[in-house]
Amino acid sequence: MISQVPARLAILISGHGTNLQAFIDACARGELAAQIGIVISNNPEAAGLQRAESAGLATRAIDHRNFATREEFDQALVNELHAFSIDLVVLAGFMRILTPVLVEPFVGRLFNIHPSLLPKYPGMHTHQRALDAGDAEAGATVHFVTQELDGGPPVLQCRVPILNDDTAESLAARVSLKEHTLYPIAVRWYLQGRLQLTGEGATLDGHAIPANGIQYTADLR
Ligand code: GRF
Repeated sequence: MISQVPARLAILISGHGTNLQAFIDACARGELAAQIGIVISNNPEAAGLQRAESAGLATRAIDHRNFATREEFDQALVNELHAFSIDLVVLAGFMRILTPVLVEPFVGRLFNIHPSLLPKYPGMHTHQRALDAGDAEAGATVHFVTQELDGGPPVLQCRVPILNDDTAESLAARVSLKEHTLYPIAVRWYLQGRLQLTGEGATLDGHAIPANGIQYTADLR
């Protein structure tokens, strides 16, 4: 449960930070009872750090290459998350595999967005894999993070058609636009106390969420 209002989010990025921007905008519009307490990147060159600075947010670059082990890197992240009194951690294109050092203290309040229709295509190169398989649809899934890579319980999923002339890049762009609507909705549900990770999986308003997440529709509230 969230202990402070507004809740304090950490957003972890490695790259462009377009999902980060969606959270900056959603907070500015008053759609989330939250403030972004810190933006952390493992990549000091991440363009998303500039977005955060332009929005006046606190930022940290913690370069994973300066740590001997994944666990030591994760401990450095945890130290920052505690230092900034973070309630909820939002992974937004954060390209590192997490260890229990980070997952355990934040389990149930740690989210990721993955660019596939989970449980299909965990891992990398999701759009190319969907094209290679001849799929008719692709999409993105917000899920709770557990120790299993891209394997925590799905919460919310959006779908886009795959077009005949799609490349991995054109498909990624179509999915990315939808992600920016999707991710803040799932986080809003959490902040409203509606979304929980239980021993059996994810629940919304006390009801079990289907194995591939709630399917996004424009009238979702
Ligand atoms: C998104 O496609 C997300 O699904 C994946 O990484 C990408 C991040 O993009 N996890 P951005 O940095 O938010 O623009």
